[in-house]
Amino acid sequence: MLTPDVAVVGAGPVGLAIAWRCAQRGLRVVVHDPAPGSGASHVAAGMLAPVAEAYFGEPELTGLLTESAARWPGFAAELTAAAGRGFGHRTEGTLVVGLTGDDLAEARRLWAYQQGLGLPITPLRPSELRDREPALAPRVRGGAVAPGDHQVDPRRLVTALRTAAERAGATLLPGRVDRLTDVAARVTVVAAGCGAAALTGLPVRPVKGQVLRLRAPGRGAPGFRHVIRGYADGESVYLVPRDGGEVVVGATVEERADTEVTAGAVLRLLRAAVDLVPELAEYDLVEATAGLRPGTPDNAPILGALPGRPGVLAAAGHHRHGIVLTPVTADLITELIVTAEPDPLLAPFRPDRFPGLPVGGVRVVAGAGGAEMEEETCD
Ligand code: GLY
Repeated sequence: MLTPDVAVVGAGPVGLAIAWRCAQRGLRVVVHDPAPGSGASHVAAGMLAPVAEAYFGEPELTGLLTESAARWPGFAAELTAAAGRGFGHRTEGTLVVGLTGDDLAEARRLWAYQQGLGLPITPLRPSELRDREPALAPRVRGGAVAPGDHQVDPRRLVTALRTAAERAGATLLPGRVDRLTDVAARVTVVAAGCGAAALTGLPVRPVKGQVLRLRAPGRGAPGFRHVIRGYADGESVYLVPRDGGEVVVGATVEERADTEVTAGAVLRLLRAAVDLVPELAEYDLVEATAGLRPGTPDNAPILGALPGRPGVLAAAGHHRHGIVLTPVTADLITELIVTAEPDPLLAPFRPDRFPGLPVGGVRVVAGAGGAEMEEETCD
């Protein structure tokens, strides 16, 4: 085989979408991954939530989330046609609800901030909330609707992206990449989730999330249609109803690198879920998993050329937002490869915003006993 134009390391949604877009542009593309789709996307709920996940102090990230969410409808239509299969893209919108008065006060504070940014979120009267979702518990105090916050099924998305990328000419290679020097290509894109840390020295750290999957009795449709993001006695939880009866209940956010499922986390997630939607107590519990989000120091992704590493680009550190950011990441990174001109949208997310980025593959940090290697990785 001729030397590829582009080697993508990592076959999650971001890596596969970059491979698909690059192959569409006529580039020779390989994707390295021993287990495509087995990283954070395997656990992810798939919320496309630029509004409900707009948090205080992250205006640039919120801008990128909004930009990518706007690209999702076109991306979904094109991918469905290219892959010949859907992936559960649903557009009913998201309800943000508070169980108690305290929970509602917390939710209101955040949606007032989101409204202040001009984002589409509208408070509802309790009767309006129940008209939309009669399955909500009577004691839910109130809520709001974010009509533009949609969802997809990330596992089906990976299958569709893999099909589309291969149909466009990309080749998936099952070998594991331990060093970027082992990759032969004109351009290498590191889209390896928190595996990017060991490959590049980028400050990407694992952030554990425990997630449950329930199923409605008899595989009937869940008794609610919107994504529900709830505050319930101080617990934050989301409930994502799928075609086929599945409901995803997530997620813990833990500064840990293991993937154990703990009884305490399952208890807290289930209690919050059932407090908000009592019928969930009758559902089957079919899966309890934990995954590792690729977190960064400012919670925003790392996109663009690595300083001192000619031909190496990062598309990493998507933290809580890998699925929603897939279209914009793929577009911007592909354009950068094809034109060598970074889109202005990339500016806040450049790898060199973090001081001390090494030229080699491992970041050296100053520890109490002097310099030591950072050793926490996702795998
Ligand atoms: N975006 C949802 C999560 O990270 O749990």
